[in-house]
Amino acid sequence: MQDAQPADAGTRERTAVVAGLGAWVPHGVVTNDELARVLDTSDEWIRSRTGIGRRHVVSPGESTGDLAVEAGRRALASAAANGGDRTADAVVLATSTPDRPCPATAPEVASRLGLGGVAAFDISAVCSGFVYALGVSGALITSGAAERVLVVGADTFSTILDPGDRTTRAVFGDGAGAVLLRAGQPTERGALRGLTLGSDGTRSDLIQVPGGGSRLRSAGEPARDADAYFTMAGRPVFGQAVRRMADSVRASAAELGWAVSDVDRVVLHQANARITAAVADRLDLPVDRFPSNIGQVGNTVAASIPLALADAAQEGVLRPGHRVVLCGFGGGLTWGALGLVWPQVKPV
Ligand code: COA
Repeated sequence: MQDAQPADAGTRERTAVVAGLGAWVPHGVVTNDELARVLDTSDEWIRSRTGIGRRHVVSPGESTGDLAVEAGRRALASAAANGGDRTADAVVLATSTPDRPCPATAPEVASRLGLGGVAAFDISAVCSGFVYALGVSGALITSGAAERVLVVGADTFSTILDPGDRTTRAVFGDGAGAVLLRAGQPTERGALRGLTLGSDGTRSDLIQVPGGGSRLRSAGEPARDADAYFTMAGRPVFGQAVRRMADSVRASAAELGWAVSDVDRVVLHQANARITAAVADRLDLPVDRFPSNIGQVGNTVAASIPLALADAAQEGVLRPGHRVVLCGFGGGLTWGALGLVWPQVKPV
C-alpha cells in the first residue's frame, strides 16, 4: 500500500479528482434457482461458469434513468459527507439501455437531480462505458469547461434480454453507480491518471442488439422481435476480454509509472469470475487484489465498475492510499483503464 502519488506526478496541472461515490440496485432479485425454474439451467452451472449467484432486476415501468438518479443522488451526498459541495456543472451518463433511443437520458437525470441547466449527455460504450465516461469527464475538467462532473454508469439489460436465452439471462443484471469528479491537482489522492482507451470495430458483431438502428431500418425490412434482443458470442468475447483487460491494466500502470506488482487493487468490469481469475493470472497478481461483487449483482454493464468500487470501499477491501487501476471491456469492441490512489471517500 502506498500513501501518496509519486513525486514526479506534477503539482500545477489541473486534474479530475474523485470526490464522491454512490451506488444503487433495484429491489427485484432473481436467484439462479429462480432462473432454473423457467430455463434449462442450474445454480451449479451458473456459479461454476460465471461466479454469479443472483442479480437485481427493475420492476415494471422502472428505467435506467430512475436507477441513474438514485446513484447520482448518492454520489452527490457522498461528496457532501466528505466535506465537498453537493453540486455538479455537467452530467455524463454511460449507458447502452437509455430510457428512449432519442433523446439522451442524461438531461432528464440532471433535471431530476435539481442540477439546473447543466451540460448533460450519454456515452455509449457498453461495458467499457464507465471508463470512457471518466475519461471524457476528466477532459471536461482539465480543459476548464467544468469544475465538477457527475459521472454515472447505469444499465437495465433485463429489458433487452431474450427471455428464452439461458446464457445472457444468467450473466446480466441491472444497476447504477456514480462518481462525482471535481477539479484538483495530480498529486492529490483521488486524481485520475494513466488513461488508456481502445476499440476494435471489426468485432462489433460479437456483442450487439441488431435492430432498432439505421442499418436495419433503412433496409425497409419489417422489424423482427428477435432483433430487439441483446446477443453475445460468449466464447470469443471471453478470450478478448481477458487479453484486452490484461493489456489495458499493464498500459495504464506503465503510464502511471507503477510496476504492475505495485498495484494494490484492480477493479475490473465484472463480466465473469473466470475472466477476472484469468486476467489476474496473466498479470501475475494474486486474485485477492481484484475486488469482486459479481456473485451478488452479475454483470451490470456500465454500472459494474462503480458498483464494485462502492462495495469494495464499504467492505474495507478498498482503502484510502491503495494504488488502484480501474479497467473495462465491452461491446464495440471497446476497452480502457485508468488509475488513482484511493482517496478518503466513503460511498453512500
Ligand atoms: N445453463 C446451462 N447450460 C448453458 C447455459 C446456462 N445458463 N448457458 C450456456 N449453456 C450451455 C451452452 O448451450 C453449451 O451447450 P452445448 O455444449 O450443448 O452447445 C455449453 O453450455 C457451453 O457453452 P459455452 O458458451 O461454450 O460456455 P462457456 O463456458 O463459454 O460460458 C459464458 C458461457 C457466457 C458464461 C462465457 O462464455 C462468458 O462469460 N463469456 C464472456 C461474457 C461476457 O463477459 N460478456 C460481457 C462482456 S463485457
